[in-house]
Amino acid sequence: MYCPQKHYWQVLKKSLFKKKYTSQVAQNATILGIETSCDDTGCAVIDVTGKILGESLHSQNAIHVRYGGVNPLIAHELHRKNIEFAVSEALDSSKLTIDDVDAIAITTRPGLFMSLQVGVKYAKYLARKHSKPLIPIHHMEAHALAVRISQDIPFPFLVLLISGGHCLLAVVKDVEDYYLLGESIDNSPGEMLDKAARRMKLKNIPAYSQIAGGKSIELAASECKDPSLFKFPLPLAKYRDCNFSFSGLKDSLERKLIKKEFDHGIEGDGIIPEVNDLCAAFQLAIAEHISHRTERAVLFCERNNLLAGNKNIVVSGGVACNDFIFKSVGVIANKLGYKVYRPLPRLCTDNGVMIAWNGIEKLRIQCGLTPDIAISAIEPKSPLGKSLINEVKEANIPVRVTRLKKLYN
Ligand code: KG4
Ligand code: ZN
Repeated sequence: MYCPQKHYWQVLKKSLFKKKYTSQVAQNATILGIETSCDDTGCAVIDVTGKILGESLHSQNAIHVRYGGVNPLIAHELHRKNIEFAVSEALDSSKLTIDDVDAIAITTRPGLFMSLQVGVKYAKYLARKHSKPLIPIHHMEAHALAVRISQDIPFPFLVLLISGGHCLLAVVKDVEDYYLLGESIDNSPGEMLDKAARRMKLKNIPAYSQIAGGKSIELAASECKDPSLFKFPLPLAKYRDCNFSFSGLKDSLERKLIKKEFDHGIEGDGIIPEVNDLCAAFQLAIAEHISHRTERAVLFCERNNLLAGNKNIVVSGGVACNDFIFKSVGVIANKLGYKVYRPLPRLCTDNGVMIAWNGIEKLRIQCGLTPDIAISAIEPKSPLGKSLINEVKEANIPVRVTRLKKLYN
């Protein structure tokens, strides 16, 4: 594969840094990864085999949950407060110093500008002070590749990324090479689950007060008595593409809640008695929509031989922690003769390990190293790879939705 960084790599090897970046170093490399794209300050030190030598994670979730979404100003302040400590913690737990690290991988895109800026500035400072190269990382690529830390999944594979900031289907052709097949035309599933949890006032239930909205909906749904009590429409049913839409489900939830609250005379902090059934039906609707689009993506890949005969689907991003949604994709995978994988749940949500790992993957193919990163290289929006969304639309592949209520039994 042509890599414009290769020449640069040679320059680095010869003179730029104290340590020689020979391929032998690449085989024994240790990378510090820093993630600050949204509301988690995550750092990790890992080696080339994917062994996690040390890590730290400062989650701001308990604070943002009060606002029903991430508050960018608060996220910025907390990253600033935590970044130095988070890096030291990861290094201390690995029993290494910054001098033992070969390069610093840092998320530069996409994400909240002010959050990204804190990580990038700190990484630049460390790189300058300790003469280390930097490796800029695309947050979604890091989610897509995180599974390869622990499981040997060859390229190419299909990835479904479902998180608080994104929803997309893509072919991962190689470390730096992606085809985008579909994306959300409005909200992300995580954002919508968080808003729905807030609207259902789940945080007033003590067991759910400190956890992410999506997680609380999953827990409440697991207590349901009748997942058929509420019915949601299937989004984008008439559109034969792989895009997603969640805003209609959110509006439908709102109408159902207003009616039930009225019926029961509920005001203020009160919660409707059918809340578990509502969570179950809502989660089911999301799972069926996501699985429906994923099935079309697999069929499109097969028609165009995009997966070179590999039959692997990877699910990643915070919402991939949801066992019901993961199992739903598993039903589709099974039907089509595919296997479905996800990173360890703690590596599905934002973390420093996946950033460090992406650095390792780039180092192995000798791509992506740079002595400096301009602040202008921080990109709040950054599409993943080459878009094939129009080609998917033109293929016009019919897919009958698979109903997944049976997974509640
Ligand atoms: O990947 P992530 O940590 O951050 C982004 O890049 O967005 O994803 C966070 C999202 C939140 O919206 C959270 O509610 C959701 O992941 N999430 C879950 C679960 N755990 C976290 N959603 C559904 N079920 C879960 N168990
Ligand atoms: Zn993420």
